[in-house]
Amino acid sequence: MQARVRTIREQFDREVAGIGDTAALAAARVRFLGRKEGLLTLLLRDLRDLSGAERAAAGREVNALKDHVEFGLAAAAERLAQAPAAATLTPLEASLPGRLVHPGPLHPLSQVRDDIEEIFLEMGFTLEHGPEVETDRYNFAALNIGEHHPARDSQDTFYLENGLLLRTHTSPVQVRAMERRRPPIAMVAIGKVFRRDAFDATHSPVFHQVEGLVVDEGITFAHLKGTLEHFCRRVFEREVTLRLRPSFFPFVEPGAEYDISCIFCSGAGCSRCKGSGWIELGGTGMVHPAVFEQVGYDPARVSGFAFGLGIERIAMLKHGIDDIRLFYENDLRFLGQSFA
Ligand code: DAH
Repeated sequence: MQARVRTIREQFDREVAGIGDTAALAAARVRFLGRKEGLLTLLLRDLRDLSGAERAAAGREVNALKDHVEFGLAAAAERLAQAPAAATLTPLEASLPGRLVHPGPLHPLSQVRDDIEEIFLEMGFTLEHGPEVETDRYNFAALNIGEHHPARDSQDTFYLENGLLLRTHTSPVQVRAMERRRPPIAMVAIGKVFRRDAFDATHSPVFHQVEGLVVDEGITFAHLKGTLEHFCRRVFEREVTLRLRPSFFPFVEPGAEYDISCIFCSGAGCSRCKGSGWIELGGTGMVHPAVFEQVGYDPARVSGFAFGLGIERIAMLKHGIDDIRLFYENDLRFLGQSFA
C-alpha cells in the first residue's frame, strides 16, 4: 500500500508540472480524483481489504496524498488563470524604432529661480525657507506694518482660520531668519506668495518672489546699490544701469524702488519702457530699526538692507513674455520652448 501511495504521488508530481491548458487540468483531475476510476478513489476502495491497524495507518497516508493532489491541482488552475495575460505580451522586437521620449525642459519660472539662486549663492548668500501659511506677526506686525495699514485689508490678503493667512510676500522669511540666526546674515528666500488679485495679463493670485537681506555691522546704502546692480547685470546678462527712486515700505527706512535701464532699447525709450528708458523691478531699502527691535537686534550696532523682486517679472522681461497666465496654463507649445 505504501509503495502504491508513493508511486501515485510521483506520477502526480510529474503530470501536474506539465499541465498546459484547462483540458489537461480537467483530465488530470479525473485521472486522480475521478469518482469511479480515479487512482485515489481506487486506493481508498482497496483500504477496505486491510485489517484494522493497517487500515488506519494507510488511510492517513492516502488522505495526505489526496490533500497533496487537491492542492497541486488548485495551484495549476491558478497558474493557468494568469497565463493569458502573459500570453498577450508581445515578445521583444529589437528592430522596432524606440518610442520617442520628450525630455521636457525646466519650467521657465524654475529656470529663472535656479539662475537667481546661483547668482546669490556665488555672492555668498544663503538660501532660507519659510512657510506659505504665516501668522500676522511674521507677515505684518514684525515688519512694522501697522494695524491699519491697507496691506492688511482682507481685500488683499487671503485669511485662513485661527488668525493664519497666506503670506502676501516673502519678507516674513527675513524676520524668521533673523530670529534664528545672529549677524552677519546674507540670505535670499524664494517662494510662492498669495494676493487676492484676479487673473489678468499682469496679475495672478499666486506668484513667486525673492526676498533678500544683508545684516552686519557697517552695512550701507552703497552695499545695497552695488549688490542689486551686480545681480541685475548677471540675471539679464547685459550691462544694465540701476536707478533708485525714493519710495515707502514700512519695514525699510530709507526705502526705494529700483529700476534698470531698459533691456529692450538700452535706455533710449521704446514701447516696452513706455518711452522712459527705465524698467521697474522691485522695492528695497535699509532695514527699519523697528524691525531689528522685533528680533532683538541692536539697531545702534548693526545695519542692513533688504530687497524684493518678482520671479515672473524677471522671466517675462528676459524672455519677452507678455502674459503672466502663460506660466500657469501648462500649454506644451509654450512650455516646450527652451528658456535657457
Ligand atoms: N515685500 C515687498 C512686496 O511684496 C517687496 C519689498 C519692498 C521687499 C522693499 C523688501 C523691501 O525687502 O525692502 O511688495
